[in-house]
Amino acid sequence: MELLLDTANIRLIREAVSTYPICGLTTNPSIVSKEKRKDFFPLMREIREILGRNKTLHVQVTRTDCEGILKEAEAIRKNIDEDVYIKTPVSREGLKAIGIMAKDGFNVTATAIYTTIQGELAAMAGAKYLALYYNRMLNLDIDADSVFRSTAQAIAMSGLDCKIVGASFKNIMQVTNVFADGAEAVTVPPELLDQAMANPSIAIAVDNFNKDWKTVYGDKDIAQL
Ligand code: G3P
Repeated sequence: MELLLDTANIRLIREAVSTYPICGLTTNPSIVSKEKRKDFFPLMREIREILGRNKTLHVQVTRTDCEGILKEAEAIRKNIDEDVYIKTPVSREGLKAIGIMAKDGFNVTATAIYTTIQGELAAMAGAKYLALYYNRMLNLDIDADSVFRSTAQAIAMSGLDCKIVGASFKNIMQVTNVFADGAEAVTVPPELLDQAMANPSIAIAVDNFNKDWKTVYGDKDIAQL
């Protein structure tokens, strides 16, 4: 299981990295634009510094033609580092670029995946992660659970070195659904994780434990005994 953050907000990243068991982070042009920072590469390097080299960083291209995608991939690698994952939408041109990048030794994350065939083609082309868009599929009346399950099954049967990273979530139940569907990773906005942990039942349980404790031990905690 891998938990990735789907944000480019430095404050949220710092908080989330010190709290949750984070394995990496994904961005896309919409997420980055929300930060209104013109200094794109310094922002990406700042994120890399917070994450460290042992977590995965996935940075999305903006060009839609194969040649342009390859140029951006070079620029991303040059200005960030060699470990970065080049996140590329699985369009016809994107697929072509994914195949070339994989052969050239780039780490590739295929994204904007709505159908099983997109995921299968990207996996065969050499992508290491497949970002499947759960909530966006539901919005289109696509059976998202079925797409996740069939893609996971195809990867498992092929033996390819490729993981599904569930993406596009509007609530935490969607996140737990995709793990049950065979996703090995998820990328989640930190706000959704915070919402799940703000469940009032947790605080009530903790309060009750402490009330019971105090009836015997008063104000002393375990370290003071
Ligand atoms: O990682 C992909 C994701 O950012 C898309 O999410 O919420 O825009 O559907 P959303």
